[in-house]
Amino acid sequence: MTNTFNSGEAGQSALLDPSRATHTSPGHGDAFTRHMYSLRYTPAHGWHDGELLPLAELSLHPATIGLHYAQVIFEGMKAFRQADGSVAVFRPWENARRFQRSAERMAMPKLPTELYVEGVDQVVAADQNELSDNPDHSLYLRPLMFGTDVNLMLRPSNDYLFLVMAFVAGGFFGDTVEAVSVFVSREHSRAMPGGTGDVKCAANYGPSFVAQRQAQEAGCQQVVWLDSAEHRWVEEMGGMNLFFVRGTGPDARICTSPLTGTLLPGVTRDSLLRIANRLGYGTEEAPITVDQWRADCASGEITEVFACGTAAVVTPVGSVRDRDGDWTVADGRMGPVTARLRRALVDLQQGRIADQDGWLHRVPSH
Ligand SMILES: Cc1ncc(COP(=O)(O)O)c(C=O)c1O
Repeated sequence: MTNTFNSGEAGQSALLDPSRATHTSPGHGDAFTRHMYSLRYTPAHGWHDGELLPLAELSLHPATIGLHYAQVIFEGMKAFRQADGSVAVFRPWENARRFQRSAERMAMPKLPTELYVEGVDQVVAADQNELSDNPDHSLYLRPLMFGTDVNLMLRPSNDYLFLVMAFVAGGFFGDTVEAVSVFVSREHSRAMPGGTGDVKCAANYGPSFVAQRQAQEAGCQQVVWLDSAEHRWVEEMGGMNLFFVRGTGPDARICTSPLTGTLLPGVTRDSLLRIANRLGYGTEEAPITVDQWRADCASGEITEVFACGTAAVVTPVGSVRDRDGDWTVADGRMGPVTARLRRALVDLQQGRIADQDGWLHRVPSH
């Protein structure tokens, strides 16, 4: 049995109300644009039937395999309005490659990079007029792929559906850059050696919500994940990678946990390591324990901490709540190195400084 779209219903459903398309003050994840791209995969026909459609609900058989066994992967990227009025996607090829790694890990077919980028381009080209020139806004792009076989045998799906949708995003934590408070999860783990922590599969996120809820109950905005073996090595934060700034001024070094296989290799993480080098900062990929983090903040060696990701861009971490005691990072506010890196990244994404590495992918308008 084939799953079908209820196409043509956009505009009639409250979920898909086009009046939301004004996006004066979008939050994160609800101001959807009007279109989605759809592409199917079957072993017999490979990737086929790629088409741009009105954003609409899907009709799925309750035995759709992806719903039961979590053969679901996704990505997150942003497109930015450029100074010349065009729109560009930031490093989509990196996300396409990560999507391929996710697919491989989940026994799903690998979508070629050009087909991934084609889907993204179609949605951006069709819906870019919904993105204002407010520099705090961007078009968040959400590619998704899941197994569509209607069969509950415990085996990989044969058929798949690849979709790209988009929403207009404001700041993830609001449009101003306030430092966030974080809660160290000692009880729950996000990933384990041999698991799926280094890919972007849906199954990594559902189990994180309970820890995120505990963080909120403890008065914090985000959860910090530790390694699952010893529960003391800092891995990442919510859906973001973490950076520690050591020292100050031109001698500052920015340090982040190495990609051990249990962290998601963030595109923003990689971009910031390169931008920091270019700005003259030292960079280091070295593990750090919670106790060291606390001690180095107390001694003043760690001067700033920030998280980074497509959604959160660069967000300062101001305070930490842990079983063994709470502490503040420096004065609890965004520090100068964090601010400089954030500005450099945003300026690059919005085309205000030279794109030396060719990271911007300009999308032609229709
Ligand atoms: C667990 C996790 N870590 C880090 C990141 C940051 O990755 P990126 O910079 O590619 O958005 C994300 C977001 O995709 C994530 O979900």
